[in-house]
Amino acid sequence: NDMLAVNIAGIKMKTPVMTASGTFGFGLEYSDFVDLNQVGAIVVKGTTLAPKAGNSGRRMAETPAGMLNSIGLENPGVEEFIHTIMPRLAKYDVPVIVNISGNTVEEYGQLAARLDKTGVAGLEVNISCPNVKQGGIAFGTCPDSAAQVVREVKAKTTLPVIAKLSPNVTDIALMAKAVEAAGADAISLINTLLGMAIDIHTWRPVLGNIVGGFSGPAVKPVALRMVWQAANAVKVPVIGMGGIMTAADAVEFMLAGASAVAVGTANFVNPYAAVEVAGGIRDYLTERGLNQVSQLVGKVNCG
Ligand code: DOR
Repeated sequence: NDMLAVNIAGIKMKTPVMTASGTFGFGLEYSDFVDLNQVGAIVVKGTTLAPKAGNSGRRMAETPAGMLNSIGLENPGVEEFIHTIMPRLAKYDVPVIVNISGNTVEEYGQLAARLDKTGVAGLEVNISCPNVKQGGIAFGTCPDSAAQVVREVKAKTTLPVIAKLSPNVTDIALMAKAVEAAGADAISLINTLLGMAIDIHTWRPVLGNIVGGFSGPAVKPVALRMVWQAANAVKVPVIGMGGIMTAADAVEFMLAGASAVAVGTANFVNPYAAVEVAGGIRDYLTERGLNQVSQLVGKVNCG
C-alpha cells in the first residue's frame, strides 16, 4: 500500500527503481554500502549457459558525453549463479531478475528452464547486447528473431518474462509489438546505443572490440522517446531506462509511459543512485499531492 510500491507483471517491488543489468554486478558487490532491501529489484549481470571471459583489450571508456562498454557478457555462467550467488541474494527481501543471453534460440530456452524454480523473480531476455559476435543484438534488431527467442523462453519458464529491447533500430514500436505478441509479460528499454571512440594519439579505437555500447545522460532523450513510442504501442508494462541519474529523470520516464525504471550508468558514479532516485520520487509525489507512483505512468500531456 506504500506510495512507491509497484507490481510489474507479477513482480512485487517496494519501489519502481531497479538496477539495470550489468551496472550493479550481482548486487552483492554493492551490499557493503547499499541496503539492497531498499532497491526495487536487482537485475543481475547478463548470464549465459557456460562461463564467459568476455572481450579482450580495453572494455570500458569514459567520454565527455557518456560511457562506452564492450564487456562481451563476462559472467560465471548459470550454474555458478544458481549454486553460489542466488543463495546469498535470497537472504535479501528484494526480487532478483536474471538477464539471460544465448548464442542460439535453444540456449535461451535452456537458460529459462534451468532458472525456473530457483528463487528468481523473473527473467530479462537480453536480445540487445551490442558486444557479442553471435546472438545479442542480431536477435533484437529483427522482429521475427526477437519473437522467436521470446516464444522459446515463454515455453520453458513459469516466470514473468521481460524482453530487453535495443535502441539500435529504426522502429521501436514494431519491436515492442513483436515481443508482446510472442508473449513477453513486460518490456525493458533501452540497452546501449552502438558507439565508438578513437585515440587521436595512436589513431587506434579506444575499445578493444572497436565499437561498444554507449550509455549515460547523453542517451536520455533518445531513450525517453523510445519508451514513449513503445509504451504507446503495447499493453504490457514498460521498464524505462537510459541515462537516469536523478528522480526528475525517472519521473520523465514514468510520464512517458514507464511503469518502473532502471538506473544503470549512474551506479558507477553513485552506488546509492537507485535508492536516492526512489526517495526523490517519493518527495515529488508528496509535493504534488499524489499518493501512488502509478498516477504518473503515461500521463505526459501531448495535447
Ligand atoms: O552494453 C551492454 N554491454 N549491453 C549488454 O546487453 C551486455 C553488455 C556486455 O556485456 O557487453
